[in-house]
Amino acid sequence: MLRPGSLPASLLAFVLSSHLASAFYLPGITPTNYKIGDLVPLTVNHLTPSQSARDAQIRSVFSFDYYHHAFHFCQPEGGAKDVSESLGSIIFGDRIKTSPFQLQMGVNVTGCQAVCDEVEFEPRDAKFVNRRITQGFNMNWLIDGLPAAQRYLDPNTNTEFYQPGFALGNMVDEKPQLNNHYNIVIDYHQVRKDQYRVVGILVEPASLGQSKRTGTGDDFTATCGTDAPMILEEKLTTHVIWTYSVYWRPSATSFATRWDKYLHVYDPKIHWFSLVNSAVIVFFLIGMVSAILIRTLKKDIKRYNRLDQLGLDDLSGGNEEDGVVEDSGWKLVHGDVFRAPRHSLALAVLVGNGAQLFMMAGCTIAFAVVGFLSPSNRGSLATVMILLYTFLGSIGGYTSSRVYKNFNGTKWKQLFVLTPAALPALVFGVFFLLNLFIWARGSSGAVPFTTMLVILGMWFVITVPLSILGSWLGFKQAQPPPPVRTNQIPRQIPPSTGYLRPLPSMLLVGILPFGAIFVELYFIMSSLWSNRIYYMFGFLFLSYGLLIVTSAAVTILMIYFLLCAENYHWQWRAFASSGASAGYVFAYSLLYWARMLSFSSFTGGLLYLSYSALLSFLWFVMSGTIGFFACWLFVHRIYGSLKID
Ligand SMILES: *[C@@H]1O[C@H](CO)[C@@H](O)[C@H](O)[C@H]1NC(C)=O
Repeated sequence: MLRPGSLPASLLAFVLSSHLASAFYLPGITPTNYKIGDLVPLTVNHLTPSQSARDAQIRSVFSFDYYHHAFHFCQPEGGAKDVSESLGSIIFGDRIKTSPFQLQMGVNVTGCQAVCDEVEFEPRDAKFVNRRITQGFNMNWLIDGLPAAQRYLDPNTNTEFYQPGFALGNMVDEKPQLNNHYNIVIDYHQVRKDQYRVVGILVEPASLGQSKRTGTGDDFTATCGTDAPMILEEKLTTHVIWTYSVYWRPSATSFATRWDKYLHVYDPKIHWFSLVNSAVIVFFLIGMVSAILIRTLKKDIKRYNRLDQLGLDDLSGGNEEDGVVEDSGWKLVHGDVFRAPRHSLALAVLVGNGAQLFMMAGCTIAFAVVGFLSPSNRGSLATVMILLYTFLGSIGGYTSSRVYKNFNGTKWKQLFVLTPAALPALVFGVFFLLNLFIWARGSSGAVPFTTMLVILGMWFVITVPLSILGSWLGFKQAQPPPPVRTNQIPRQIPPSTGYLRPLPSMLLVGILPFGAIFVELYFIMSSLWSNRIYYMFGFLFLSYGLLIVTSAAVTILMIYFLLCAENYHWQWRAFASSGASAGYVFAYSLLYWARMLSFSSFTGGLLYLSYSALLSFLWFVMSGTIGFFACWLFVHRIYGSLKID
């Protein structure tokens, strides 16, 4: 068995994990310097569900605005204001607002400082908040662009790291206790004389039931309560005072490395183990494919061409009596293999969109690996993805029209329109519908209407024209003739048997690419649903490479067997069987639901299922395209080396 601890693996692990996987990024923002006593703004983000510490379950998919009326958090004077955010940050749910906390650089505040006057929780609100505590909701604060975190110890590696977010409350003996006091611990770093920077934030919340407001009118102070926790009564009105204290700790961490302890790589061993395993599978596959390609094909081609010279090229007639062994190989279908498939328009549109998605994913991961997507720029990953998708419309249009031209398509107008419209319309339609559900729940996760308009506008003004331009270029370009002439009359296809039938072949081909990447998929899913920072792009990059190679290799193998069985309908088959890994991805998301998620509401489940189905469909289109083009090259290559007059 391959252990990840073996020398080459650990060497590689060291190089990648210290450079690609976690710590390497270009600081996205210029540092802010503060003097002692300067006000350091604290901004608040939405409340998000998190993985429960008890049973590792995630209990909700909704997030709530910090100033949702039921929470009764203190507002700054004159009301909270929105902090401007990037497009990707809004779409991924960030709702950042100003707060009334007064933090001064280097000035400790001990005891209990009241944030604002006492608030009252009516039974209705108490129920709402208690439910959120039961579901394990986290608060998300930001100071100087850094998230307020709680400290954790990774039991696997015994390293300490900061996990963004801290608990709204705690469950003690099945009873929710509200955290109404925050010990804010800020690490700061001195750069020069009287120039300080924020390099780390921890919040240790506490539930202090007997904190009291003392004094009259505006002239009040708070005193810290002692042991008894703060419990919101669901039958009576409860008075709560929000308090905080601040501790500034001098730190040796520099600004450039302040994110390191946040970007924790969970279970690096598992990553390496799975990567090494996948790599073994992939090498095995490549070995198999190249054995077939090089040995069998060479032999085939030599024999076919020799027979050709002997003037016995009509193999299909059966030349048993001439003493030549009956051939049933892939050569037989040479007159049909370049025949356009059925529904060629749909395939061309799908492949065009797949190419666009493929390029988008590849470029985003490449950007992330070289460190262009700093975590300080919230939402930069999503923003880059959206922008790339928008501008790669040209690639989509070009690809689909080249493929369609190759299929000798005639419905060009439909192709020009459907390529930029079909898939985005589906995605946007589903997104819009789901958004209605989220909005109806009063969750802050609903994307604002204006943002939707911006996305629609970008699509209409940039993607559509670029795609049409791309399609037009592809349409104008001369089409090289196929390596083999296509016969007038289609050849009869013998019925497929065994694993060559459509469904078994899809199931067989799909499982290998999925198997190569499913461990990484797990981490992506947990970061999607439990609001963890995903920053293992080195691993993601390798996994993406493995996905491409595996999909291509297995699909080629399958298509080779298909052609040998004299079935020349390879185009849709290549697309569908390579895309079939999406079926496994969807099944995996169901398994993830069963293992890690426990929604109490119908809409939660519906939302999860719909998003999973949508993502799996995009996955299908993308990985199907990989298989399609791999087989395209393969088929052109092998039939191109035949001598047929
Ligand atoms: C503030 O509190 C921290 C933690 O207790 C302590 O290390 C630091 O010296 C204090 N700073 C000042 C200015 O008192």
